[in-house]
Amino acid sequence: MQNWHKYIPLASSILLILVTSQVPQERKIPTFSQDILPIVQTKCMPCHQSNGVGPFPLVTFADYKKNLRLVKTMALSRSMPPMQVHSDFGEIATTPQLTNLEIVTFQHWINGGAPEGDPIEISAKPSQEFSLESPDTILNSHANLKTKVEGAPYWQVTAIPLGSKPIHLTAFEVAPNSPKSLRHAMIAIAPTSQASSVPYETSGNFPDPSAQLIGVWSPGFPVWNLPANTTYTIPANSTLLVQSFFQPTGKAEDAGYKIAFKTVKQPGAKILKSEVLANENFTIEAGTNPTLSVGKSLERETEVFALIPEARFYCSTVSATLTYPGQSVKTLFQTDRWNPYWRGNYIMPGQIKAPAHSTLLFQFNYANDESCPMNADKIPADIKSGPGLDDELCRMHIFTIEPRASR
Ligand code: HEC
Repeated sequence: MQNWHKYIPLASSILLILVTSQVPQERKIPTFSQDILPIVQTKCMPCHQSNGVGPFPLVTFADYKKNLRLVKTMALSRSMPPMQVHSDFGEIATTPQLTNLEIVTFQHWINGGAPEGDPIEISAKPSQEFSLESPDTILNSHANLKTKVEGAPYWQVTAIPLGSKPIHLTAFEVAPNSPKSLRHAMIAIAPTSQASSVPYETSGNFPDPSAQLIGVWSPGFPVWNLPANTTYTIPANSTLLVQSFFQPTGKAEDAGYKIAFKTVKQPGAKILKSEVLANENFTIEAGTNPTLSVGKSLERETEVFALIPEARFYCSTVSATLTYPGQSVKTLFQTDRWNPYWRGNYIMPGQIKAPAHSTLLFQFNYANDESCPMNADKIPADIKSGPGLDDELCRMHIFTIEPRASR
């Protein structure tokens, strides 16, 4: 399941050759200390440090030397940093990607024997608990929660009661106690008061159908931070449900987390609305690679803040488009390779104004033939989704911003 990077897009290797041929030949060989370190400090180290989500630290020269072959494959193929997503509206914020120039520098450095240069003392910046500035509420999960030691990745829900007053939320962030094992967390609000519960495993769906997703936390994606004057109102006596996706690491890790909230006393002039479009009953026949879609046409002008797709291991790519009333089409986002470990927030660059009578269309491409890594060592079988069956998903969470008065 981990071998998604084997699907290295051919296009990027072609680009690399073109880019390389334009570099003057007499350039001196880059060194780690002078040329590589400034790149990797911002683009690799945030995840690749001890206790980071990356499988090994990439901090010192020795770390890079030891993993050079893999680093070369990952960096030159643009497989790391891991979230490749494009939009016609500008850059969607995820961990910054390597630029063409940085890839060329990496290539020259490795081809030139990967020299160290003047040795310098390096230590990974200890990552702060929260990147959100001055959160006003910190919620704690139960103490002493432990992850499974081994086996397949799994989902687990924990509940935190939120009290008897409504909350006007403007931002939230999750800080896992063990970033190594938590791959992402889906955050939802159940409009009923539930006791703080011991964690229970799920199949990846919130057991309470009235739970409304308010966002996802995933390493490398930006914090869920609403634009000025915009709030999401959590009704009084609600329960926060956190569905965590854990990847066992070989030992029992701390499965607890903290959640930071930023709130305001009064609702903003604009409110965030969360809605889900889903295709809940479908079969992906063995040996086929179908496309499923969900969409809606908009009755009035709508501001799109963010999109969160949900799909699993048979999905290969996801795209979202906006068709204007005049029929011109723009891509909201397009993933090169869908990877269910990296389920994150696709916060649109600026809020996108979709005019009345335009259409949002979300397309999910699935592969259930031998090209799917899930079928690597078995004969493809039908994949079903429906009540009690959730081998695959085809769901898009849409977050829009509306004037408060219109509600
Ligand atoms: C947002 C977090 C994040 C960032 C940033 C990141 N990585 Fe990774 N990296 C991971 C994770 C997690 C894995 C494990 C594979 C997976 O789940 O995609 C990984 C795997 C790897 C691997 C091993 C691949 C394998 O096949 O075993 C290498 C090499 C690597 N990363 C290099 C890099 C380099 C070089 C950079 C910077 C240019 C980088 N990574 C940036 C999170 C990150």
